[in-house]
Amino acid sequence: MRDEEKITGSYEETIEYGKAIGKSLKGHEVLVLKGPLASGKTVLTKGIALGLGIKETITSPSFTLMNIYEGSSLNLCHCDFYRIESVEDFWDLGIEEYINEKTVVVMEWGDMFISELAIPFTIIDLEVLEGSSRWIRLSQAPLHE
Ligand SMILES: Nc1ncnc2c1ncn2[C@@H]1O[C@H](COP(=O)(O)OP(=O)(O)O)[C@@H](O)[C@H]1O
Ligand SMILES: [Mg+2]
Repeated sequence: MRDEEKITGSYEETIEYGKAIGKSLKGHEVLVLKGPLASGKTVLTKGIALGLGIKETITSPSFTLMNIYEGSSLNLCHCDFYRIESVEDFWDLGIEEYINEKTVVVMEWGDMFISELAIPFTIIDLEVLEGSSRWIRLSQAPLHE
């Protein structure tokens, strides 16, 4: 996945951008979403799911912590670490099981525990701009961060 920046002007545009990201995925990707509440992490994930051909409605995993969806050729593991308080609780989720070539892992607040996994990943930063605009940046995490 290449580094890029994008500004979306609406919910729909973020869905479309997520869809394009989803279509470009090949499996085994780990996407770490960073940004404040309501910056669009879940909305972008809904788009990614559409791009993966997932028909089910994506709901926020902020309470369930992790949701798994089956796509046309790849599955989606969507998690949210906001409410996870300890490294033990993180390991209890068993995310390692989903880091495989048939799955794309999307982690909201993913920067909180990603270093535990010691794997390459893509960082997606989101910021709230004026009105309903969002700034979204994709970048590869440097190894050994
Ligand atoms: N350009 C935009 N992209 C995404 N969401 C937007 C945009 N403009 C407004 N919104 C609103 O911002 C909120 C984003 O919510 P959500 O994706 O759940 O945030 P997060 O998961 O980061 O907490 C939604 O209510 C959505 O309708
Ligand atoms: Mg969310």
